[in-house]
Amino acid sequence: MGILPEKEPEVTGPDSDQPVMVFRDVAKVYPLPAGDVRALDGVSFEVRRGEFISVMGPSGSGKSTLLNMMGCLDTPTEGDIFISGTRTGDMTDAELTSLRRDRIGFIFQYFNLFPLLNIIENVTFPMMLKSGRGVDPERGKEVLRAVQLDDSLFTHTPTELSGGQQQRVAVARALINNPDILLCDEPTGNLDTRTGAGIMDLMTDLNRRGTTIIMVTHDPHIAEYSRRTIQIIDGRIVS
Ligand SMILES: Nc1ncnc2c1ncn2[C@@H]1O[C@H](COP(=O)(O)OP(=O)(O)OP(=O)(O)O)[C@@H](O)[C@H]1O
Ligand SMILES: [Mg+2]
Repeated sequence: MGILPEKEPEVTGPDSDQPVMVFRDVAKVYPLPAGDVRALDGVSFEVRRGEFISVMGPSGSGKSTLLNMMGCLDTPTEGDIFISGTRTGDMTDAELTSLRRDRIGFIFQYFNLFPLLNIIENVTFPMMLKSGRGVDPERGKEVLRAVQLDDSLFTHTPTELSGGQQQRVAVARALINNPDILLCDEPTGNLDTRTGAGIMDLMTDLNRRGTTIIMVTHDPHIAEYSRRTIQIIDGRIVS
């Protein structure tokens, strides 16, 4: 599909086995007037480079909280998170910002597109954050074509697109800076089965090219696209 260059082969040497991500006894507590909510409760696991993992569990079990921690969008109350060997708690705000911007792509459940920007502007927005200067509309078009969005839609605004088309734009936006970790929260949650399968074929292809993918889903058919499942109940990993 030519969406992204192949990822660099694993470096050889002592660090070649280093996990992309490590969670060690991570807890997240939300203090609420009615009492604390332990959204995550002592979560430990490792993600290896090139894995395709699905995260499953009942509503309210902590899946989105977990994904937000993985994407450094939120910080743990207890425990440690390491990304490529570096403890996120030791990173400066500037380092965390560039980590999120340059290495992590995030696909949200409800697309989160900017309603007033057209499709190319939406997709190239993270490039602007990266370069601090201009964006390359041609790169935007290239990624949009790779997710099979028709050229005729490029100058439309998101509300003029169907749910499936909007999700393709959201995928393209997550890929524009060529991230090596892709985090997806119910990427097919609002799509019909056939459109959802199209998005999953796209993910499978990206994973084959070396992108590490962690995906929240409640749908066992969608989870079948992944190669490992993490089950979470009441903020704890059960398998
Ligand atoms: N910002 C917040 N403030 C307070 N409590 C929160 C907050 N975010 C999440 N929670 C609580 O943490 C728990 C886990 O929420 P989370 O959103 O991670 O669940 P989830 O597994 O993603 O559920 P769903 O499948 O419905 O999306 C829930 O009890 C929720 O009410
Ligand atoms: Mg959720």
